[in-house]
Amino acid sequence: TPSFPRFTREEVARHHNEANRVWVTYGSEVFDVTDFLELHPGGRSKILLAAGGALEPFWALYAMHKQEHVQEILQEYKVGEL
Ligand code: HEM
Repeated sequence: TPSFPRFTREEVARHHNEANRVWVTYGSEVFDVTDFLELHPGGRSKILLAAGGALEPFWALYAMHKQEHVQEILQEYKVGEL
C-alpha cells in the first residue's frame, strides 16, 4: 500500500479556497478536490462549503454520496492522512 504524508486538521483548514487549493477530509484521509470542482454533479459551490474541513456533516445531509462509485472518485484525489 502506498504511503501518504500526514497533515494536521490545521494544515487542511488552510486549503479552503481555489487560490490555496481545496482540501477536504473523510475519516482520517485528506483529499485535494480542486480539480474535481468543475466535475461535481452537485456544483462547485456545494464542495466549497466543505473546503478545509470534514465531508461528514455535509454527506449526512446528502446521502447520495454513500455509494461505492463516489468513494472511488474521492480516492483518486487522495493526498494524505491525518
Ligand atoms: C452529487 C461527488 C461533495 C452535494 C454528487 C455525485 C457525485 C458527487 C459523484 C453524483 C452522485 C450520483 O448521483 O450518483 C462528490 C465528491 C465530493 C462531494 C467527490 C467531495 C468533495 C459534496 C458536498 C455537498 C455535495 C460537500 C454539499 C454541501 C451534492 C449534491 C448532489 C451531489 C446536492 C446531487 C446533484 C444532483 O443530482 O442534482 N456528488 N461530492 N457534494 N453532491 Fe457531491
